[in-house]
Amino acid sequence: MPSRLAKIASLIVIVVSFIAYVAKAPAFPIASENLLPWSTWFLISAIANLVLWQRVMKLLAFSLLVIWFYAFAASIVPETSTAKVDVANIPRTPEAFVEAGEAIFNGKGKCNTCHTLDPSAPKSRCPDLSDVGARAATRQPGVSAKDYLIESTYEPHKFLVPGYGNIMPPVWKPPISLSETEIETVIAFLQDQGGQVDLTQFEPPVDIGSPGAIVEELPPLLVGDIERGKKVFVDGAKCIACHEVAGIEKPAGQTLDEGVEVVAAPDLSDIASLNSMRYIEESIVKPNALIVTGYGSVTVKTGGASVQGTLLSQENEIITVRVKDGAGVESEIKIPLSELDPEPIEELKNLKQQGYFWIEVTSADTGTKISGDLVEENEENVTLQVGGETQTVSKSNVKVQATIIDFDENKIVGELVSENEDEVTLIVDGEEQVIDTFDIDEGPTYSRAFGKRLDVTSPMPDNFPLLLSVADMSDLLAFMASLTGATEDTVVEAEVSDVEAEETAE
Ligand code: HEC
Ligand code: HEC
Repeated sequence: MPSRLAKIASLIVIVVSFIAYVAKAPAFPIASENLLPWSTWFLISAIANLVLWQRVMKLLAFSLLVIWFYAFAASIVPETSTAKVDVANIPRTPEAFVEAGEAIFNGKGKCNTCHTLDPSAPKSRCPDLSDVGARAATRQPGVSAKDYLIESTYEPHKFLVPGYGNIMPPVWKPPISLSETEIETVIAFLQDQGGQVDLTQFEPPVDIGSPGAIVEELPPLLVGDIERGKKVFVDGAKCIACHEVAGIEKPAGQTLDEGVEVVAAPDLSDIASLNSMRYIEESIVKPNALIVTGYGSVTVKTGGASVQGTLLSQENEIITVRVKDGAGVESEIKIPLSELDPEPIEELKNLKQQGYFWIEVTSADTGTKISGDLVEENEENVTLQVGGETQTVSKSNVKVQATIIDFDENKIVGELVSENEDEVTLIVDGEEQVIDTFDIDEGPTYSRAFGKRLDVTSPMPDNFPLLLSVADMSDLLAFMASLTGATEDTVVEAEVSDVEAEETAE
C-alpha cells in the first residue's frame, strides 16, 4: 500500500514539475531564500518514477526525462543566438536594413523593453514609436527626420519628447553598445514606421570609438560586495520600501524616515541591463537630475490655487496629476498647460532647467509684450515660438519690473528706469518716481519676465550620499549592477567583469 501511494505521489510530482518547468513557473517553495527550481523537483521525481514504476510508466518517465534534457540544454545556451544579427556584410538595401533594424530593436538594442510600436498600447514611461518615421520630421524646427533620429539614438538627452524624462540611454554606450552600422539599421527601421527609408551615409555626431567617449563610460570602482549591497538596499537605505526587485520580499512593517513618504517607484529588477552604472549612480546620488516619466512630483499654480501631486503624463499640452486629498483618497486631475498661472521670473537664467516652457517678456526698445513657448535659450538670448514664427529676444534688453517695500510698509511696483547707490528710479502708473535707498526696507526684487513652468522633482530622498558610508554605497552599486533581470549565472559573469574593471583601473 505505501509503495502504491509513493508511486502515485511521484507520478503527480513529475507531471506537475514538468509542466511548471516548461511554463517557467517561479521556483518552489516560494521564499526569498532557498529556492528549489522546478528542474530540481523534476529530476528528483523522475528518478523516483524510474525506481518505483515498471514498464509503461517507467517508459513515460524516461521519455519526459529526455524531453526535459533537451529543453534544459537549450535553455543554458545563451539566448543571444536568436537575437544576434550580423550587420558586417549587410547589403545596402532598404529591405535588408529594415529587417536587421527590427531584429536589433527587439533584441540587442533593447528598445522594445521601453518603447512600444502600437498606438493603442497602454501609455508607458517611453513614447510609442509606431509612426515615428513621419513624426520625426516635425519634432524640432529645421531638423530633418533623419537628423532627428540620429540625434535620438546617439544623443537622446539633447531633445526630450515633451512629457518624458531624460532616461533614454545613448544606445552606443554600454550596456547596450550598438555599433555605428547597427544604429544605421535601427534608424532605417524607425524611418519605416510611417516614413521613407533613406540610406544616405552620415557622419555620427559622436565619435564612439574616441578615448574621450570611453573614459566617460568607465564604470565606477565596483569593489563592493553584492550580498552586503542587497542588505543596504533592503535594510540600510530601505530602497525596497518604494522599489520592487523580483525575488526580494518587502520586510513587513518597514517605515521610512520622517517626512519621507512611500510612493510608487520603478521596478528595478533589470535596471542594469538597460542603463549604465553612471546613470544608476546618478539616480541614487542626485535623484533630481533624471526623473522617470510618470513618477515625478510636481507643484503647479492654476487660477491662483496650488496643485501638488505626481505628474503622471503630459499629452497634447494637457497634464495629468495624481493628487491625494486630506483623507488620503487619490484622484487624477487634468490641467491644460495653457491654464497655468504665469509667475514672475527674477533672473533669466537656466529657464529650461527650471521647467519653464512659456515666457512673456516686454522688449525694452519697443515696449511690446512678446510671449510664446520657449524654444531655445543661451547666455544672451531666449527664442520664443510666437504664432507661426520664432522670435529671439536679448536677455539684457527686456523691461524689468522692480518691487520695493519702504519703511512705511508701502509696496511700490514699477518699471525699472535706473538705479545707483543712492536712488532707484521707477515708472509707476506712467509717472517717474525716485526712491531714496535710505527709505527702502525690502528690495528691490526684480522680475524680468513672467513664465509658466512645470517644476518636476523626484520624490526619492536626496540624502543617500550623507546617510550611506562609502563602503555601503559601493556595496549598493555592486548589488545594483547585478540587477540584470537574468539568472544567477549572469550575475557571476557581472562579478567577474567587475574584477576585471578593477584590475584595469589599477
Ligand atoms: C530605458 C528606456 C529606453 C530605452 C532602452 C530606449 N529608449 Fe528611446 N526613449 C526613451 C524615452 C524616455 C524617450 C523620451 C525622452 C527623450 O526624448 O529622450 C525616448 C525617445 C526616443 C525617440 C524619440 C521619439 C519621439 O517621439 O520623438 C526615439 C526615436 C527613440 N527613443 C528610439 C530608441 C531606440 C531605437 C532604442 C533602442 C536602440 C531606444 N529608443 C531605447 C527611453 C528608452
Ligand atoms: C520614497 C521612495 C523611494 C525610495 C526610498 C528610493 N527610491 Fe529610487 N526612485 C523613487 C522614485 C519615485 C523614482 C522615479 C523618479 C525618479 O526618477 O527620480 C526612483 C528612481 C530610481 C532609479 C532610476 C530608475 C529607472 O528606472 O530609471 C534608481 C536606480 C533608484 N531609484 C534607486 C534607488 C536606490 C538604490 C534606493 C535606496 C538607496 C532608492 N532608489 C530609494 C522612489 C524611491
